[in-house]
Amino acid sequence: EKGGYPSFMEKEINDQPDAVAQTLLGRSDADGNLTLDEIRVDPSVLKNIDRIIVLACGTSAYAGQVARYAIEHWCRIPTEVELSHEFRYRDPIVDENTLIVSISQSGETMDTLMAVRYAREQGAKTVAICNTNGSTIPRESDAVLYTHAGPEIAVASTKAFLAQITAAYLLGLYLAQLRGNLFQGQIKDILAELAKTPAKIATVLENADQIKELARSMADTRSVLFLGRHVGYPVAMEGALKLKELAYIHAEGFAAGELKHGPIALIEEGQPVIVVVPSPRGRDSLHSKVVSNIQEVRARGAKTIVIAEEGDESVKAYAEHVFYVPETSTLLAPLLTTVPLQIFALELASAKGFDVDQPRNLAKSVTVE
Ligand code: F6R
Repeated sequence: EKGGYPSFMEKEINDQPDAVAQTLLGRSDADGNLTLDEIRVDPSVLKNIDRIIVLACGTSAYAGQVARYAIEHWCRIPTEVELSHEFRYRDPIVDENTLIVSISQSGETMDTLMAVRYAREQGAKTVAICNTNGSTIPRESDAVLYTHAGPEIAVASTKAFLAQITAAYLLGLYLAQLRGNLFQGQIKDILAELAKTPAKIATVLENADQIKELARSMADTRSVLFLGRHVGYPVAMEGALKLKELAYIHAEGFAAGELKHGPIALIEEGQPVIVVVPSPRGRDSLHSKVVSNIQEVRARGAKTIVIAEEGDESVKAYAEHVFYVPETSTLLAPLLTTVPLQIFALELASAKGFDVDQPRNLAKSVTVE
């Protein structure tokens, strides 16, 4: 059942090319146009949506944070991501022009279910992104977009995360198509790029030996900081969460730009810092800013570990370790850059002898508030 792997988690990390491919399957036609028949919300309602709120917890909320960059960019609809358990208690502004997108692997997370119920009572339309057929959150939503990652057994979420990002991107493209925010050709191009990601994830998995070796050599580490910018920021937080959950190591993810506003005080000799570097081909000088952040922490003694795009030589001078992922567009990069961070946490936890499938104090589905 573990497919020859020592743990479900390792199997599920290796299942990721398939999880993404399955989530894309059957959702575009022979011409490469998007067809999301399952979104059974009246198109005229979706055309009038003036706000999107993504509700989720934990890793699923990080998937929402990644998706937010794509949805706002493609659809020009203001999009927020809120932790389900915080949402209800702030008297949120929700009405019939609000689209609620819940993200839940299990479909049973009580915090998210209660938040969806609350939003529905206020008249909002609700779409669930979910990995579990027939579970409660999809049943209580107006529509569901299933992630077809297959059952996720390990407590810590891995393949569901990549499938959630994929599904949320499809939803964003669907809204952009419906509302005329993107040309059909642009949508086709993005779908074509998405279709190439499973093979690229497979490449990351094949080239994982060095990151495994590094992780095993770091079993005595007491704290690891993760930095990212733009879509790399939620990826950094997800990397930190995986390390906390599996290896019980203090870890924090920061927006790289926030460093100088406080966290840089944490940097001392030997402090490991893992940096998710955007593509040098991307827009807005994101790349050069992150490279300066690497220099800043390096100058203060940090041990810098960098995840960068294949061919990016500029980071080498500042990184003790560089792990490359294949080229892709800035928005799709999280589907690749997350994978080495998952492997890092898995290997480090395994080196410490921990049960990676059943970390202490955690349950796979959190059915209490
Ligand atoms: C982290 C993890 C949790 C879940 C969270 C939400 O590895 O597994 O943070 O992501 O409890 O669960 P779902 O997606 O089932 O609502």
